[in-house]
Amino acid sequence: MRIRKAVIPAAGFGTRFLPTTKAMPKEMINIVDKPAIQYVVEEAVDSGIEEILIIVSRNKEMIMNHFDETPELDQLLEKKNDKNLLKISKELASKAKIFYVRQGLAGGLGHAIHCAKEFVGDEPFAVLLPDDIMDAEVPVVKQLIESYERHNGTILGVQSVPRNDIPKYGIVAGDEIEDGDMIVSGMIEKPSVEEAPSDHAILGRYILNPSIFEMIENTPPGKGGEIQITDAILRQKDIENVYASVFEGTRYDTGNKLGYLKATVNFALKHPEVGREFKDFLEE
Ligand code: UTP
Repeated sequence: MRIRKAVIPAAGFGTRFLPTTKAMPKEMINIVDKPAIQYVVEEAVDSGIEEILIIVSRNKEMIMNHFDETPELDQLLEKKNDKNLLKISKELASKAKIFYVRQGLAGGLGHAIHCAKEFVGDEPFAVLLPDDIMDAEVPVVKQLIESYERHNGTILGVQSVPRNDIPKYGIVAGDEIEDGDMIVSGMIEKPSVEEAPSDHAILGRYILNPSIFEMIENTPPGKGGEIQITDAILRQKDIENVYASVFEGTRYDTGNKLGYLKATVNFALKHPEVGREFKDFLEE
């Protein structure tokens, strides 16, 4: 089945970015000239996604305003005859059909994804965590959709991470079936280096079969009293094959300060307007 829908959970508190996130959603933190969530929406659209549901919470209105029409601004830019900025402003609102739903209580990522049940219906769908920003020749979600088309099962986007970083991630165990694709046999959330079954970490991109909703409904709260999506996927793996697919590209974790700084430097160096001068500046 064609994958047309994506879910972006953006209802978390963003505590690693305090005090910035006291009043501002972390998804709106600027990377060169676009807020983080726009990179993720663009990745979804470039992957062929037509409808996006963003899971929001209180104090996230800024996200909705960002993707809304801006008639007053457009009028002003028209008057100034600034065609370039007008294009940027108008394009944004027409990128995809974007819908919103509120997660009243931050009950964990599994709980957040469950808020998408009515929107998704009975189709496989993509999940993009907006903290994870990708720099990839082929959009990462597109790569995972291609993997879904090969297997027709839930796909976890993974990459090898350095040994020392293993305890930060969900790590998969599995048997390789073809280049870069594995059947998942287990998964451990934030294991120690010794107990980790591999160095393949789940990095913020999933294609989920819709049976995941029933799995979430049967998943009791885990770590921190939250419903963990990894627990629900472990249940799903008991009734159908779940796969992990190694994707190509560089992933930046913009949910923490260092990852955010690295992303900023990377995207600034590639920026057509400022990249060259920024490179000179860094070399100086
Ligand atoms: P994180 O735990 O990494 O994000 O959740 P956070 O809670 O916003 O950030 P910190 O740890 O306090 O700094 C991963 C993703 O899941 C979403 C978050 O918005 C983030 O995109 N999420 C998490 C929800 O939408 N709802 C939740 O209840 C929990």
